[in-house]
Formats: sequence, structure tokens, C-alpha cells
Amino acid sequence: MSHRFATFLAASLLTLIASPGVIPAEPAAATPSPSQSEPAYTSDGKLKLPANYREWVFLSSGLDMSYSEKPDMQDHSMFDNVFVDPQSYREFLKTGTWRDKTQLVMENRGASEKGSINQHGKFQTDDLMGVEVHVKDTARFQGGWGFFAFQSVDPAGQIPTTAACYSCHQQHAAVDTTFVQFYPTLLKIAKEKKTLSPNYRP
Ligand code: HEC
Repeated sequence: MSHRFATFLAASLLTLIASPGVIPAEPAAATPSPSQSEPAYTSDGKLKLPANYREWVFLSSGLDMSYSEKPDMQDHSMFDNVFVDPQSYREFLKTGTWRDKTQLVMENRGASEKGSINQHGKFQTDDLMGVEVHVKDTARFQGGWGFFAFQSVDPAGQIPTTAACYSCHQQHAAVDTTFVQFYPTLLKIAKEKKTLSPNYRP
């Protein structure tokens, strides 16, 4: 499954590169085009995978993070990489919180110890194990935010609001249901702007 996903993703990126007019003339333009930053949905309300999220702002990586006291995932090791669309990142620097239409992407990847010249420590592999997206769209989602989990590049339906995703993020995340306590460059800003959630315990 995950290898198939990686192939899909690579293919979609190639399509993007190959089709003229999709890539903006000036990739580093100050204002990203809406297609880069705004969430896009199908007519039946599924979210489209943001194809260029790897060009967004990198917030952090977690390695084998676990939310239960018992160590789990003994048999496989995983990194997660978190990205945010550039426009929302710039707004956060000014305000300490997320604008409407923010998209945060969490990409899960295999971690390996054995490869090339590596002797100690872990590096990320091309084994893409899934992509999850957290979208702020106040007109669309109860509570303002929706979660989506992608197993391929096909659009994904919203995860029901009864899922643990919503309660854990609401109860424990530092800023507006997002885990800014683990995104080191943003935590300082949230403290300065006093936008930390009242629930948040360091
Ligand atoms: C028990 C708590 C918990 C649950 C349940 C949970 N998460 Fe998270 N989530 C976290 C933590 C902690 C992070 C920070 C990860 C890091 O630092 O790399 C995070 C980060 C994320 C992010 C990155 C953006 C953000 O909001 O900070 C996404 C996307 C995400 N989770 C999706 C999901 C989805 C989808 C589900 C449900 C299928 C889910 N999470 C369930 C704790 C949780």
C-alpha cells in the first residue's frame, strides 16, 4: 500500500511538472497562488491532496512519537514530517495563530538504521506510510477544523468529528487545536502573542 502511494505521489508530481501553466512562472513569488495554499474540495466534499505540500514550510519532525504510556510500534519505526502552507505560516508569524483556510500536512515515513554509510541513528526512507491533513475552514467544519487521511493521491472524505483525532487535538494541542508545542519556531511566537490555548500544559 505505502509503496503504491509513493508511486502515485511521484506520478502526480511529474504530471505537475510536465503540464505547462500549472507551475507559476515565478516559483518564489511573494504571494503564492490560491491553488497552492487554499484547500480544494471535490463536489461531494472530499479534500484534494495538496500536491505541492513538499514545497511548503517545514515545521518539525517527530520520531516514533507515541501518545500511550506503553511503548508501541516495537516492530516498525517511523518519522512524521509536518508542513504548513506558506501564506498561513506568514500570518502565524504576525498573529500567533492560524488564519481561516490553513492546511497542515503530516507525512509519515519509514525510519531505518541500515543503509549506505550510516552506522548509528536513523534516517527517513522512501516508504511513505500515509499523509494526514488538518484543515481550518470555519464555514465548512463544525468546530472550525477537519481531519483527513490519505492512503493514495485520491481525494479523502472528512474523518467524523467523533474520532479521537478531534478530542486529543482539542484537549492537548497548544494553539487552536494544533500541536505548536512540538513546532519549535512557532511556540515562541505563540507565547509572545499570548495565543496559547487555555487547556495547554507544557
Ligand atoms: C492522543 C493524541 C492524538 C490523537 C488521537 C491524534 N493526534 Fe494528531 N497529533 C498529535 C500530536 C502530539 C501531534 C504533533 C506531531 C509532531 O510533533 O510531529 C499531532 C499532529 C498532527 C498533525 C499535524 C498538524 C497539527 O494539527 O498539529 C496532523 C495533520 C494530525 N496530527 C492528524 C491527526 C489525525 C488525522 C488523527 C486521527 C486519525 C490524529 N491526528 C489523532 C496527537 C494526536
